[in-house]
Amino acid sequence: MPPVTERLEADLAGLARARTLLGAGELVAFPTETVYGLGADARQGAAVARIFEAKGRPRFNPLIVHVADLDTAERHGVFGTDAMALADAFWPGPLTLVVPLREDSGLSPLVSAGLETVGIRVPGGGVAQELLRLFDGPVAAPSANISGKVSPTRAEHVLDGLDGRIAAILDGGPAEVGVESTIIGCFDHPRMLRPGGLPAEAIEAALGRPLAHAPVGDTPNAPGQLASHYAPGAPVRLNVDSPEPGERLLGFGHVHGAALNLSPGGDLVEAAANLFDHLRRMDARGDAPIAVSPIPDHGLGRAINDRLTRAAAPRP
Ligand code: TXA
Ligand code: MG
Repeated sequence: MPPVTERLEADLAGLARARTLLGAGELVAFPTETVYGLGADARQGAAVARIFEAKGRPRFNPLIVHVADLDTAERHGVFGTDAMALADAFWPGPLTLVVPLREDSGLSPLVSAGLETVGIRVPGGGVAQELLRLFDGPVAAPSANISGKVSPTRAEHVLDGLDGRIAAILDGGPAEVGVESTIIGCFDHPRMLRPGGLPAEAIEAALGRPLAHAPVGDTPNAPGQLASHYAPGAPVRLNVDSPEPGERLLGFGHVHGAALNLSPGGDLVEAAANLFDHLRRMDARGDAPIAVSPIPDHGLGRAINDRLTRAAAPRP
């Protein structure tokens, strides 16, 4: 982990440095018009895993992907009529659209926590726009705070929690909006998933009809409860040192006979980056039960175990 967090001014040199660090898989906090985000290259699994590590997040919530414009957004998600109308009306701005994930999205599966949808937004705010144009790729970013703390609206807030845990912060002054983006699900009837900086009334006016409200329990903060949440078809058994006959081992660390290994070297960042991809690949290869090696329950291991516990829970 980087011991010193670089403070970058939002000038040409600072933006160029931020781009270089993001490209190298490092974490860079940056201002948007809502709150400061903790950014990583959304295509690099290990970089995305480091976001959860830096935030001390015990679970893998899906992350919002930030892009410079609608054309770029369409490389990653599928925009139907409603999503298109909202993007046209409000981007750049404090609105996140959750849309079906494109199969060729190029994003790390950790970004959407294994869901088949992806949250995308084109932020307003000059500095975010300049950075995203310069970087020319998708930036995954949750709010740049330690897990469980309030979202940061100034560079100092970010440093309070994350100094020494991230490579750099791009200082763009105070965020104008100060609350997070409004999140609208556009995978069926457009629905409100999180109220935020863009009022529901404005969204309903642009759609020409009322929004649906997310069903009880279907909150974006509890992705494990989302109807579309991914669980493998095969049964899953955890903390297995030696698999039963007929079980396939999803390994961790130095184990023999694993069908796939989350991290042969026992690296939790690598394991997190591989988790959703490996679960899907095990699933695609058959329906024999999946046994999973013990994963240490510290750092990112807690988030990995949380997700695996959900995958292993009795099915409805
Ligand atoms: O204003 C904002 O939205 C800020 C700035 C940095 O963009 N970001 C932000 O991210 O608030 P975060 O991670 O703190 O909150 C994102 C929310 C989470 O509750 C997450 O579960 C939800 O978005 N989310 C992201 N992708 C989703 C998806 N595919 N399905 C459902 N919920 C999703
Ligand atoms: Mg947050």
